[in-house]
Amino acid sequence: MSGSAFAMLTCCSHFGKMVRLAGVDIKINMSYKLFRLILIISVFATFVSQINGNSKKKEVPTLGERVLQLVDMSTKRPIIRLNGDKFRQYVKASPRNYSFVIMLTALSSQRQCAICRQAHDEFQIVANSWRYSQLFSNHLFFGMVDFDEGPDVFQYLGQNSAPVFIHFPEKGKPKKADVMDIQRIGFAAETIARWIGERTDTQIRVFRPPNYSGTIALVILFALIGALLYMRRNNLDFLYNKTSWGIAALCIVFAMTSGQMWNHIRGPPFMHRTPRGNVAYVHGSSGGQFIVETYIVIVLNAAVVFGMILLNEAAASKGDPRKRKIMAVVGLALVAFFFSLILSIFRSKAHGYPYSFLFK
Ligand SMILES: *[C@@H]1O[C@H](CO)[C@@H](O)[C@H](O)[C@H]1NC(C)=O
Repeated sequence: MSGSAFAMLTCCSHFGKMVRLAGVDIKINMSYKLFRLILIISVFATFVSQINGNSKKKEVPTLGERVLQLVDMSTKRPIIRLNGDKFRQYVKASPRNYSFVIMLTALSSQRQCAICRQAHDEFQIVANSWRYSQLFSNHLFFGMVDFDEGPDVFQYLGQNSAPVFIHFPEKGKPKKADVMDIQRIGFAAETIARWIGERTDTQIRVFRPPNYSGTIALVILFALIGALLYMRRNNLDFLYNKTSWGIAALCIVFAMTSGQMWNHIRGPPFMHRTPRGNVAYVHGSSGGQFIVETYIVIVLNAAVVFGMILLNEAAASKGDPRKRKIMAVVGLALVAFFFSLILSIFRSKAHGYPYSFLFK
């Protein structure tokens, strides 16, 4: 019906043109304009009433329809992208007879959430493992809400950070344990799968696509060392050099005691910029750290160690006494200063830590 109304509209506007082309009295033209206006309004009114009628007639999909749609969507994409409307339609809806595991995230680049990417990759591994497992069925689905697509969902769930993993059980609302504690247990795919296994009766066997980059790096490293040894095969004295071994050992100790391994596993941000433009280089609690913080710790540790070495050399070497005295004083100053600094950083992280030296 609306189709024929459209046809009429076009016909008459041609007609109007024809009238004008024929040079008929301008009054006639005006009356056609009026006619067209009335026609447009009536067509518009019909449309509006139809849309209203539709929205009244439009029914909420039944549980069976929703389940079918969800299976269809997760077959195409193991993690279903949800905005506010879809979230209300599929996740918040009741009744449900399926569990939903939702990741709240912020992947757009201006949000600067590096950890969200990693969390997404791990979540993807779990969702793929489930999607392609033989147990795959319609009682567990994976979804994600990006902050820029569904800020209302974050608000509804009372979450203001990302990434967050929430399990929506088959019945009722998520409880406290349905929000995964990534601060404590991290978000490796295996951890997520185990957590889902505890919340539902679905055990997902995680299948990680093989990653050869570590192996390749190791092979390249050994090849380089081999090449170096081969080139210097006539002069291998450096292998018996205590200092070079000492430096190598110190480097490993510095890397390991400054939290590089933690960075590798948790993937923290490089530093933190507050909305007001302040920059934090040191995380304010002992439960976290920034990448730049670990570099600061390396430098401070190295300075303390350098001071210690100077002190040791001053005592052990048999050189010029004046030079040794200077070395001892510089060494002592380095140790005292940088040790105090590292203590005060520690105090700022572990609140209530009682010890300090030189400055607070
Ligand atoms: C959930 O209910 C729908 C509709 O009754 C049904 O098709 C589906 O198989 C049910 N799912 C499970 C896991 O029982």
